[in-house]
Amino acid sequence: RNLFQIAIDGPAASGKSTTARLVARKLNFEYIDSGAMYRTITLAALRENLNPTSLVDIHKIINIARTSKIQLITTNNGTPPSAHTSPPQPLVPKTRVIFNEEDITEEIMLPEITRNIMGIASNPGVREAIVSRQRAMAECNGYNGYNGSNINYDKEEKEKNSNSKRKQGVVMDGRDIGTVILPNANLKFFIIADPKIRAERRLKELKRIKEMENLEMSEVLADLLKRDKSDIERKISPLKMADDAILLDTSGLSIEEQVERIIKLALEKM
Ligand code: C5P
Repeated sequence: RNLFQIAIDGPAASGKSTTARLVARKLNFEYIDSGAMYRTITLAALRENLNPTSLVDIHKIINIARTSKIQLITTNNGTPPSAHTSPPQPLVPKTRVIFNEEDITEEIMLPEITRNIMGIASNPGVREAIVSRQRAMAECNGYNGYNGSNINYDKEEKEKNSNSKRKQGVVMDGRDIGTVILPNANLKFFIIADPKIRAERRLKELKRIKEMENLEMSEVLADLLKRDKSDIERKISPLKMADDAILLDTSGLSIEEQVERIIKLALEKM
């Protein structure tokens, strides 16, 4: 393996994905949003009225997890980070999520998805399917040479990527990246932040979505804590810091500081 791998795990809204995206852009690495895949499967299940506690339905959900076409397209022209608006901050690359040709980027962030994700992300069959797809994605640089249904960039995007130089590494964020998906990653981080700060960050992010303008802080905080509990307590691939991960508390750090710390360590190791 010659790809440099950076694994970033942590609880919901800890700043992982903003940090991961900016690190990936600075190093010209591929970024893979592992949570987006669980969100996509959850949306698909809800649309088909599938209930993860039903034996018949869970087989259908596992099948969706194995075979559905999910494209994760990260572009550098992003949006300002939600958490810190002054002084001006760098734009954060955005990941568009395409499910069977439909752009579901905003829909998968709705609280209804977040509330229903737990029953699906804790299922062993679903995880097995997603884990192997995510490992393959990390191995093949997100896009390179892989012909399966994991990740299929737009033709245009693919051509652009193959014309530019092959990316030297990958940054992946989630809950089980350092422990399960990439146990041999070159660098692992576990990012935490005070729950109130996390809820504020997530609220700002969600308020950008039209239907979410009236969302309450207390509701967001309660949802976050509930999801953390479920992620930590589930039997398979629980949210857990890998033994060789570096703990990063971002409560008092600016986004630039978080990114700088990771870049510095990565450059030392590369
Ligand atoms: O990172 P994000 O908040 O989008 O993840 C949504 C949910 O997907 C998490 O709360 C967790 O239940 C699940 N997930 C997971 N393993 C990952 C990434 C996300 O179980 N690697």
